[in-house]
Amino acid sequence: MEHTLEQNNKIVVLENGPYLMEGKFTFIDHTGSETSKEGKVALCRCGLSASKPFCDGTHRRNEWKS
Ligand code: FES
Repeated sequence: MEHTLEQNNKIVVLENGPYLMEGKFTFIDHTGSETSKEGKVALCRCGLSASKPFCDGTHRRNEWKS
């Protein structure tokens, strides 16, 4: 999946958790399908989420550490 970032967006790496993105984003998957998001979005960093690329909280249940 390709991610397009606009100016003034930010990404914060949370300890033992996801990438917390804040701003306005367009996500483009491998088929070219686009999804726009605005505000705060958490992207999975542990690889365990059932709704990748988004965090679904599974990292907490599995006590994932980074
Ligand atoms: S970081 Fe939350 S489910 Fe992967």
